Amino acid sequence: MEALAIEKKRERNKELQEKILQLKKERNAIILAHYYQRPEIQEIADYLGDSFGLAQKAKTTDADVILFCGVHFMGESAKILNMDKTVLIPDERAGCPMADMVNVDGLRKLKAQHPNAKVVAYINTTAEIKAETDICCTSSNARAVIESIDAEEIIWIPDKNLGQYVQQFTDKKMIIWEGYCNTHDLLTVPDVEKLRAEHPDALFVAHPECRPEVWKIADYVGSTTGILKYCRESEHKKFIVATEEGVRYMLELESPDKEFIFASKFLVCPNMKVNNLKKLANALETMQPEIYLPEDVADRARASLERMLQVK
Ligand code: 13P
Ligand code: SF4
Repeated sequence: MEALAIEKKRERNKELQEKILQLKKERNAIILAHYYQRPEIQEIADYLGDSFGLAQKAKTTDADVILFCGVHFMGESAKILNMDKTVLIPDERAGCPMADMVNVDGLRKLKAQHPNAKVVAYINTTAEIKAETDICCTSSNARAVIESIDAEEIIWIPDKNLGQYVQQFTDKKMIIWEGYCNTHDLLTVPDVEKLRAEHPDALFVAHPECRPEVWKIADYVGSTTGILKYCRESEHKKFIVATEEGVRYMLELESPDKEFIFASKFLVCPNMKVNNLKKLANALETMQPEIYLPEDVADRARASLERMLQVK
Protein backbone atom coordinates (compact mmCIF):
# COMPACT_ATOMS: atom_id res chain seq x y z
CA MET A 1 0.00 0.00 0.00
CA GLU A 2 1.39 3.40 -0.87
CA ALA A 3 2.15 5.91 1.91
CA LEU A 4 -0.92 8.10 1.30
CA ALA A 5 -3.31 5.15 1.42
CA ILE A 6 -1.66 3.89 4.64
CA GLU A 7 -2.02 7.32 6.23
CA LYS A 8 -5.69 7.54 5.21
CA LYS A 9 -6.37 4.10 6.66
CA ARG A 10 -4.68 5.07 9.92
CA GLU A 11 -6.83 8.21 10.19
CA ARG A 12 -10.00 6.27 9.43
CA ASN A 13 -9.08 3.67 12.06
CA LYS A 14 -8.47 6.42 14.62
CA GLU A 15 -11.88 7.96 13.96
CA LEU A 16 -13.56 4.57 14.29
CA GLN A 17 -11.63 3.76 17.47
CA GLU A 18 -12.79 7.05 19.04
CA LYS A 19 -16.38 6.35 18.03
CA ILE A 20 -16.21 2.84 19.54
CA LEU A 21 -14.74 4.13 22.81
CA GLN A 22 -17.54 6.73 23.06
CA LEU A 23 -20.25 4.13 22.36
CA LYS A 24 -18.63 1.78 24.84
CA LYS A 25 -19.00 4.39 27.58
CA GLU A 26 -22.64 5.06 26.69
CA ARG A 27 -23.49 1.35 26.77
CA ASN A 28 -21.42 0.52 29.87
CA ALA A 29 -19.72 -2.08 27.71
CA ILE A 30 -16.44 -3.94 27.95
CA ILE A 31 -14.44 -5.02 24.90
CA LEU A 32 -12.81 -8.44 25.19
CA ALA A 33 -10.50 -9.44 22.34
CA HIS A 34 -8.46 -12.50 21.44
CA TYR A 35 -4.80 -12.11 20.51
CA TYR A 36 -5.66 -13.18 16.94
CA GLN A 37 -7.75 -10.07 16.28
CA ARG A 38 -6.54 -7.31 13.96
CA PRO A 39 -4.04 -4.96 15.75
CA GLU A 40 -6.43 -1.99 15.54
CA ILE A 41 -8.98 -4.02 17.54
CA GLN A 42 -6.39 -5.22 20.05
CA GLU A 43 -5.38 -1.55 20.59
CA ILE A 44 -8.80 -0.63 22.04
CA ALA A 45 -9.62 -3.82 23.95
CA ASP A 46 -10.22 -3.54 27.70
CA TYR A 47 -8.88 -7.02 28.04
CA LEU A 48 -6.75 -8.99 25.60
CA GLY A 49 -6.23 -12.67 26.15
CA ASP A 50 -6.14 -16.25 25.03
CA SER A 51 -9.22 -18.46 25.26
CA PHE A 52 -8.67 -19.22 28.95
CA GLY A 53 -7.98 -15.64 30.06
CA LEU A 54 -10.98 -14.39 28.13
CA ALA A 55 -13.31 -16.95 29.72
CA GLN A 56 -12.02 -15.95 33.18
CA LYS A 57 -12.48 -12.26 32.42
CA ALA A 58 -15.97 -12.79 31.01
CA LYS A 59 -16.95 -14.41 34.31
CA THR A 60 -15.86 -11.50 36.49
CA THR A 61 -16.84 -8.36 34.57
CA ASP A 62 -19.50 -6.02 35.97
CA ALA A 63 -20.20 -4.27 32.65
CA ASP A 64 -23.77 -4.51 31.29
CA VAL A 65 -22.61 -5.37 27.78
CA ILE A 66 -19.76 -7.57 26.60
CA LEU A 67 -18.53 -6.93 23.06
CA PHE A 68 -16.58 -10.10 22.33
CA CYS A 69 -14.06 -9.88 19.51
CA GLY A 70 -12.98 -13.37 18.58
CA VAL A 71 -14.93 -16.22 17.03
CA HIS A 72 -18.46 -17.41 17.74
CA PHE A 73 -17.72 -20.11 20.37
CA MET A 74 -15.87 -17.51 22.46
CA GLY A 75 -18.88 -15.17 22.48
CA GLU A 76 -21.04 -18.15 23.41
CA SER A 77 -18.78 -19.00 26.34
CA ALA A 78 -19.07 -15.41 27.57
CA LYS A 79 -22.87 -15.65 27.31
CA ILE A 80 -22.97 -19.03 29.10
CA LEU A 81 -21.14 -17.41 32.01
CA ASN A 82 -23.31 -14.25 31.92
CA MET A 83 -26.86 -15.09 30.96
CA ASP A 84 -28.11 -11.79 32.45
CA LYS A 85 -25.77 -9.66 30.31
CA THR A 86 -25.94 -8.65 26.67
CA VAL A 87 -23.15 -10.34 24.73
CA LEU A 88 -22.47 -8.82 21.32
CA ILE A 89 -20.14 -10.03 18.59
CA PRO A 90 -19.01 -7.90 15.64
CA ASP A 91 -20.04 -10.45 12.98
CA GLU A 92 -21.88 -13.72 13.50
CA ARG A 93 -20.15 -15.25 10.49
CA ALA A 94 -16.86 -15.35 12.44
CA GLY A 95 -16.98 -19.04 13.28
CA CYS A 96 -14.35 -21.66 14.04
CA PRO A 97 -14.17 -24.53 11.53
CA MET A 98 -12.63 -26.79 14.17
CA ALA A 99 -15.60 -26.22 16.51
CA ASP A 100 -17.88 -27.28 13.65
CA MET A 101 -16.01 -30.56 13.10
CA VAL A 102 -17.85 -32.26 15.97
CA ASN A 103 -21.60 -32.87 16.05
CA VAL A 104 -23.98 -33.98 18.80
CA ASP A 105 -25.03 -37.27 17.14
CA GLY A 106 -21.46 -38.39 16.51
CA LEU A 107 -20.42 -37.48 20.04
CA ARG A 108 -23.39 -39.32 21.61
CA LYS A 109 -22.51 -42.41 19.56
CA LEU A 110 -18.92 -42.31 20.81
CA LYS A 111 -20.11 -41.84 24.40
CA ALA A 112 -22.34 -44.90 24.06
CA GLN A 113 -19.35 -46.94 22.85
CA HIS A 114 -17.27 -45.82 25.87
CA PRO A 115 -19.71 -45.58 28.78
CA ASN A 116 -16.94 -45.24 31.41
CA ALA A 117 -15.14 -42.42 29.66
CA LYS A 118 -15.34 -38.77 30.72
CA VAL A 119 -15.66 -36.24 27.91
CA VAL A 120 -13.18 -33.36 27.75
CA ALA A 121 -14.07 -30.57 25.34
CA TYR A 122 -11.53 -28.10 24.09
CA ILE A 123 -13.17 -24.70 24.56
CA ASN A 124 -13.27 -24.50 20.74
CA THR A 125 -16.70 -26.20 20.69
CA THR A 126 -20.26 -24.94 20.36
CA ALA A 127 -22.49 -24.51 23.44
CA GLU A 128 -24.58 -27.44 22.21
CA ILE A 129 -21.50 -29.68 22.29
CA LYS A 130 -20.22 -28.34 25.62
CA ALA A 131 -23.62 -29.32 27.04
CA GLU A 132 -22.76 -32.96 26.23
CA THR A 133 -19.41 -32.94 28.02
CA ASP A 134 -17.96 -33.31 31.53
CA ILE A 135 -15.33 -30.60 31.51
CA CYS A 136 -13.83 -28.02 29.16
CA CYS A 137 -10.19 -27.11 28.73
CA THR A 138 -8.04 -24.71 26.73
CA SER A 139 -4.53 -25.16 25.41
CA SER A 140 -3.18 -23.45 28.54
CA ASN A 141 -4.76 -25.81 31.09
CA ALA A 142 -5.32 -29.06 29.14
CA ARG A 143 -2.76 -31.07 31.12
CA ALA A 144 -4.11 -29.94 34.49
CA VAL A 145 -7.68 -30.65 33.39
CA ILE A 146 -6.80 -34.20 32.33
CA GLU A 147 -5.00 -34.76 35.66
CA SER A 148 -8.08 -33.54 37.57
CA ILE A 149 -10.36 -36.20 36.09
CA ASP A 150 -11.16 -39.36 38.05
CA ALA A 151 -11.52 -41.67 35.05
CA GLU A 152 -8.99 -43.80 33.20
CA GLU A 153 -10.65 -43.29 29.82
CA ILE A 154 -11.16 -39.90 28.18
CA ILE A 155 -13.04 -38.87 25.07
CA TRP A 156 -11.19 -35.86 23.75
CA ILE A 157 -12.86 -33.42 21.33
CA PRO A 158 -12.24 -31.94 18.80
CA ASP A 159 -8.53 -31.16 18.21
CA LYS A 160 -6.48 -34.25 17.37
CA ASN A 161 -3.18 -32.34 17.44
CA LEU A 162 -3.67 -30.90 20.93
CA GLY A 163 -5.07 -34.30 21.98
CA GLN A 164 -1.87 -36.07 20.91
CA TYR A 165 0.17 -33.41 22.64
CA VAL A 166 -1.65 -33.98 25.94
CA GLN A 167 -1.55 -37.79 25.56
CA GLN A 168 2.25 -37.66 26.05
CA PHE A 169 1.78 -36.51 29.65
CA THR A 170 -0.84 -38.96 30.86
CA ASP A 171 -1.31 -42.72 31.18
CA LYS A 172 -5.08 -42.32 30.77
CA LYS A 173 -6.44 -43.71 27.53
CA MET A 174 -7.50 -40.87 25.26
CA ILE A 175 -10.03 -41.48 22.49
CA ILE A 176 -9.24 -38.60 20.21
CA TRP A 177 -11.68 -36.93 17.78
CA GLU A 178 -10.33 -36.22 14.28
CA GLY A 179 -10.75 -32.43 14.28
CA TYR A 180 -8.06 -29.85 13.62
CA CYS A 181 -7.48 -26.13 13.13
CA ASN A 182 -7.38 -25.23 9.45
CA THR A 183 -4.80 -22.54 10.16
CA HIS A 184 -2.30 -24.20 12.53
CA ASP A 185 -2.53 -27.58 10.80
CA LEU A 186 -1.27 -26.09 7.51
CA LEU A 187 2.28 -25.70 8.76
CA THR A 188 4.72 -28.45 7.73
CA VAL A 189 8.14 -29.57 8.94
CA PRO A 190 9.85 -28.43 5.68
CA ASP A 191 8.36 -24.92 6.22
CA VAL A 192 10.04 -24.83 9.63
CA GLU A 193 13.29 -26.43 8.51
CA LYS A 194 13.72 -23.91 5.72
CA LEU A 195 13.39 -21.02 8.18
CA ARG A 196 15.63 -22.69 10.72
CA ALA A 197 18.35 -23.01 8.08
CA GLU A 198 17.97 -19.31 7.27
CA HIS A 199 17.93 -18.27 10.96
CA PRO A 200 20.11 -20.76 12.89
CA ASP A 201 20.22 -18.38 15.89
CA ALA A 202 16.40 -18.40 16.34
CA LEU A 203 14.39 -20.50 18.79
CA PHE A 204 11.29 -22.22 17.43
CA VAL A 205 8.04 -21.84 19.43
CA ALA A 206 4.79 -23.60 18.48
CA HIS A 207 1.14 -23.80 19.46
CA PRO A 208 -0.02 -27.40 20.14
CA GLU A 209 -2.75 -27.00 17.48
CA CYS A 210 0.10 -27.49 14.98
CA ARG A 211 0.75 -31.01 13.67
CA PRO A 212 2.62 -33.33 16.09
CA GLU A 213 5.63 -33.59 13.75
CA VAL A 214 5.85 -29.77 13.92
CA TRP A 215 5.49 -29.33 17.72
CA LYS A 216 7.88 -32.26 18.26
CA ILE A 217 10.74 -30.20 16.78
CA ALA A 218 9.88 -27.03 18.73
CA ASP A 219 12.05 -25.54 21.49
CA TYR A 220 8.85 -24.55 23.30
CA VAL A 221 5.23 -25.68 22.90
CA GLY A 222 2.40 -23.75 24.53
CA SER A 223 -0.81 -21.77 24.33
CA THR A 224 -0.85 -18.19 23.09
CA THR A 225 -0.20 -16.89 26.60
CA GLY A 226 2.50 -19.52 27.09
CA ILE A 227 4.26 -18.43 23.90
CA LEU A 228 4.09 -14.77 24.91
CA LYS A 229 5.53 -15.50 28.35
CA TYR A 230 8.29 -17.74 26.99
CA CYS A 231 9.43 -15.13 24.43
CA ARG A 232 9.18 -12.29 26.98
CA GLU A 233 11.28 -14.12 29.57
CA SER A 234 13.80 -15.75 27.23
CA GLU A 235 17.26 -14.26 26.83
CA HIS A 236 17.15 -15.16 23.14
CA LYS A 237 16.57 -12.34 20.68
CA LYS A 238 15.09 -14.17 17.71
CA PHE A 239 12.12 -16.53 17.43
CA ILE A 240 10.40 -18.50 14.69
CA VAL A 241 6.74 -18.49 15.71
CA ALA A 242 4.16 -21.14 14.79
CA THR A 243 0.82 -19.65 15.71
CA GLU A 244 -1.66 -17.17 14.27
CA GLU A 245 -0.02 -13.96 13.05
CA GLY A 246 -2.22 -11.66 15.20
CA VAL A 247 0.03 -12.59 18.15
CA ARG A 248 2.78 -10.48 16.56
CA TYR A 249 1.09 -7.35 17.96
CA MET A 250 1.58 -8.40 21.60
CA LEU A 251 4.94 -10.13 21.02
CA GLU A 252 6.38 -6.88 19.65
CA LEU A 253 4.72 -4.74 22.30
CA GLU A 254 6.13 -6.87 25.11
CA SER A 255 9.55 -7.47 23.55
CA PRO A 256 10.39 -4.55 21.24
CA ASP A 257 14.07 -5.54 21.16
CA LYS A 258 13.37 -9.03 19.79
CA GLU A 259 12.72 -10.34 16.29
CA PHE A 260 9.74 -12.56 15.48
CA ILE A 261 9.58 -14.51 12.24
CA PHE A 262 6.25 -16.18 11.59
CA ALA A 263 6.75 -19.73 10.35
CA SER A 264 4.43 -19.33 7.35
CA LYS A 265 2.55 -16.54 5.63
CA PHE A 266 -0.51 -18.81 5.84
CA LEU A 267 -0.71 -18.63 9.64
CA VAL A 268 -3.73 -16.34 9.41
CA CYS A 269 -7.14 -17.35 10.72
CA PRO A 270 -9.60 -15.87 8.20
CA ASN A 271 -12.44 -16.27 10.71
CA MET A 272 -10.74 -14.11 13.33
CA LYS A 273 -10.09 -11.50 10.65
CA VAL A 274 -13.78 -11.23 9.71
CA ASN A 275 -14.10 -8.67 12.52
CA ASN A 276 -13.12 -5.07 11.85
CA LEU A 277 -13.52 -1.68 13.53
CA LYS A 278 -16.56 -0.75 11.45
CA LYS A 279 -18.37 -3.87 12.66
CA LEU A 280 -17.43 -3.17 16.27
CA ALA A 281 -18.91 0.33 16.01
CA ASN A 282 -22.02 -1.04 14.32
CA ALA A 283 -22.51 -3.69 17.03
CA LEU A 284 -22.40 -1.09 19.81
CA GLU A 285 -24.66 1.26 17.87
CA THR A 286 -27.36 -1.29 16.96
CA MET A 287 -26.78 -3.71 19.89
CA GLN A 288 -26.64 -6.51 17.28
CA PRO A 289 -25.59 -9.24 16.53
CA GLU A 290 -26.37 -10.52 20.01
CA ILE A 291 -25.70 -14.05 21.26
CA TYR A 292 -28.81 -15.92 22.42
CA LEU A 293 -28.74 -19.39 23.96
CA PRO A 294 -31.51 -21.68 25.23
CA GLU A 295 -31.39 -21.77 29.05
CA ASP A 296 -31.17 -25.57 29.29
CA VAL A 297 -28.25 -25.79 26.84
CA ALA A 298 -26.47 -22.91 28.61
CA ASP A 299 -26.99 -24.54 32.04
CA ARG A 300 -25.45 -27.84 30.95
CA ALA A 301 -22.61 -26.13 29.07
CA ARG A 302 -21.94 -23.89 32.10
CA ALA A 303 -21.36 -26.89 34.35
CA SER A 304 -18.57 -28.04 32.02
CA LEU A 305 -17.02 -24.56 31.76
CA GLU A 306 -17.24 -23.92 35.51
CA ARG A 307 -15.48 -27.22 36.25
CA MET A 308 -12.61 -26.06 34.06
CA LEU A 309 -12.44 -22.69 35.79
CA GLN A 310 -12.08 -24.45 39.15
CA VAL A 311 -9.08 -26.56 38.08
CA LYS A 312 -5.92 -25.12 39.60
P1 13P B 1 -5.60 -20.23 22.71
O1 13P B 1 -6.21 -18.87 22.73
O2 13P B 1 -6.10 -21.04 23.86
O3 13P B 1 -4.13 -20.23 22.62
O4 13P B 1 -6.21 -21.00 21.44
C1 13P B 1 -5.87 -20.74 20.17
C2 13P B 1 -6.99 -20.72 19.22
O5 13P B 1 -6.88 -21.21 18.14
C3 13P B 1 -8.20 -20.03 19.57
O6 13P B 1 -9.12 -20.22 18.58
FE1 SF4 C 1 -10.57 -21.95 15.01
FE2 SF4 C 1 -8.02 -22.26 14.31
FE3 SF4 C 1 -9.23 -19.95 13.86
FE4 SF4 C 1 -8.63 -20.71 16.38
S1 SF4 C 1 -7.18 -20.24 14.74
S2 SF4 C 1 -10.54 -19.82 15.63
S3 SF4 C 1 -8.93 -22.93 16.20
S4 SF4 C 1 -9.77 -21.91 12.92
